[in-house]
Formats: sequence, C-alpha cells, structure tokens
Amino acid sequence: MTTTLLADIGSLVTNDPELGDGSPLGLLRDAALVLDADTGTVVWLGPADAAPAADSVVDAAGRAVVPGFVDSHAHLVFAGDRTAEFNARMSGKPYTAGGIRTTVAATRAATDEELDANLRRLVREALRQGTTTVECKSGYGLTVEDEARALRLASRHTPETTYLGAHVVAPEYADDPAAYVDLVTGPMLDACAPHARWVDVFCERGAFDGDQARAILKAGAERGLIPRVHANQLTEGPGVQLAVELGAASADHCTHLSDADVDALAHSATVATLLPGAEFSTRAVYPDARRLLDAGATVALSTDCNPGSSFTSSVPFCIAVAVRDMGMTPDEALWSATAGGARALRREDLGRLTPGLRADAVLLDAPSHVHLAYRPGVPLVSAVWRGGVREV
Ligand code: NIG
Ligand code: FE
Repeated sequence: MTTTLLADIGSLVTNDPELGDGSPLGLLRDAALVLDADTGTVVWLGPADAAPAADSVVDAAGRAVVPGFVDSHAHLVFAGDRTAEFNARMSGKPYTAGGIRTTVAATRAATDEELDANLRRLVREALRQGTTTVECKSGYGLTVEDEARALRLASRHTPETTYLGAHVVAPEYADDPAAYVDLVTGPMLDACAPHARWVDVFCERGAFDGDQARAILKAGAERGLIPRVHANQLTEGPGVQLAVELGAASADHCTHLSDADVDALAHSATVATLLPGAEFSTRAVYPDARRLLDAGATVALSTDCNPGSSFTSSVPFCIAVAVRDMGMTPDEALWSATAGGARALRREDLGRLTPGLRADAVLLDAPSHVHLAYRPGVPLVSAVWRGGVREV
C-alpha cells in the first residue's frame, strides 16, 4: 500500500453532507486525509489529531483541500487556433457556429501526433489547474475516419469520450444535410461507437434541429452511447426539452431557457451544465444559475474548452465568473464544478472525498475554497493528486 497523509488541513471539502458541518459541501475543519495510490481511493479522513500513519506525509499547513475538478464538457481534439476570430469578435463581430469549420479544416490536415500532442498539452494544463477528470468530445473531424480518429486519441487520455459527429453539417454535405445525418447515424456511428461512452448533438439554429438531433441521439443510444446535448446555447430552442425527453445525462450551455425548460430540468435527472467560458469569450449574456438552482435543478459547471467559443481550461476561472455573474454562491460553484460534474458524467466514484471513492484531491494555496472566487485569476492550485498519485 502506498499511502499519503495530507496533514493539518485547515478546511476540507468532502461534498459528503453526512460528514462535517452538514452543508452540501460536507466541510471539515482541522482535518486530515489519507490517499492510497494502489487502490486509487481515499482510505481515511477525520480530525487532524487522529490521523493514522502513512508512507508519506504532506503538510497542508492549515490550507484548504477540495475534490479534484470534474470538467464534464470539453472539446480537446483539434488543431490550430482561432485568434483572428476572437479578435474580430472583440471588435463587435457576433459568434456563429460557422467558425467550427475553420477548426475542422485544420484538424483534418493534422497528423495523429500533432493532435495527440495538443490534447496532451491541454489535459496537462487542466491538471495543473486542478482538473482531475475531463470529458472530451470529437466534432472537429466530421468524416468517418476523422471522427473515429479523434475518439481513439481522446480515449488515451480519458474514459469520458463523446461522439459529436453532429457538431455541424460537414462542408461536403452543405447542400444535403439529411445525407449527413444518415452518415452520422450510420457508418460514422459504427466507426465511433467502440471508442465513445457518450453521444452529443449541437442542437441549434445553423447546426441541427430538434428532429435531426432526436434521430442522432436515439441512434447513438441504440448503440449503447448515453445522450448529452448542446442545448439552448445561442437561442431558445428544443434542445433542453429533447435532453429531458431522452433522459440525457446533461443539457449543456442552458443559456436561453424558457420557464418550461427550467421546469423540465428541475423535474428530471438531467443535469444543467453551465459553461461561462463560452459567454465570456463570445461576449454574450451568462446563463442564470440562480434561476435553475432555485427551481431545484442540478447544476454542473465546466469549461467547454475549445478553440472557438471558450479557449480556457481553467475551472477556477469558471467558478469565479459563476459567482460574480451567474448568481452562484462560492459553495454552490465549487459543488457544481466537482460533484455536479460527476453527476453530469454519471460517475458515483468521483467528485467527493470520502473513503472508498477516488482519491482525486487539490491542495489550495488558500485557507478556504471561497478564495477560488474571492481571488480570481490567481493560481491557487498548489498540489494535485489523481487516484492517490501526486501529479502536480
Ligand atoms: O460548445 N456549441 C458548439 N460547440 C462549441 C463551439 C465550438 C467552436 O466554436 O469551435 C461550444 O461552444
Ligand atoms: Fe461545447
């Protein structure tokens, strides 16, 4: 057994309401935590002065420890960047789904090695900022071979792989979107299903309508992939209702919601995943997390890391924005970026620090998790363990 004792933790967020102060964060003061690298799990937590011996000790010196961030929505397999498009937006040009095709062209032209190197760099960048689990979508290939390649590469880095052949209609099919839907639900699905856990669709004007999205998600589900949906990002539309109708794990973006959409989410197991990096980088209005939380919906907070609408891998940045501009408390934002992300990925073993669950933990250079929002833009992540192994 290779165990690590995190000693003298001033404030430990467990996300286990049975522990600690009884709040959803399950906050323990003056605590200690033991992680086991062999089983990859938490083996003990409790009062600092009752900590058992371990193979090695890290002195938290009164600082805060939180669960590793669970980024349940990212697009990390791509080549090139879209600096010029961002620059134009900041001079007043609107964001459209059309920019996706720029990245599709660059991604198709890239070698496997180039794509893998970029992916590796982004996963590492996220890890340095406390992300211990990241979901990763295809969607910048849009041919049978390029989508399958994206998922094959992604699955080297994460088990949370998502088939997003329905990101936009591939340029070759611009005049025949129905034929593209046939490809996505046919040969492309055949090639991608073995490498994916999830199926996703960009349900939006300029991408796929409700009927197309339903057909694609159902075809994926028949092959054992679980649906999640890019829903109501740029406009109100059928995405959220469709996600709930199909029992999707999450409806992502949720920026433009009707009362009926909020109600549907609140009365379903579908998680509302909010992605404030996208509104930041497209200068759009943020989603109203307060409205969803007050209605009783489960909210996750993730980065949407991609070269077009949200080129950030930083969950702490998203937490700060969610607190400042989306009506979340610091406690709610942290819960959503950890336990909420785990719910969105239907992972019972993640997002909480409690014996038997994954030993994914972050030591902050701060006395409290509140500093994630209180000190925006400050690199507060001091150490990161994934499966009990120190990574940062
Ligand atoms: O989640 N909305 C669709 N897909 C991405 C944007 C992709 C891009 O612009 O390249 C998103 O924001
Ligand atoms: Fe996205």
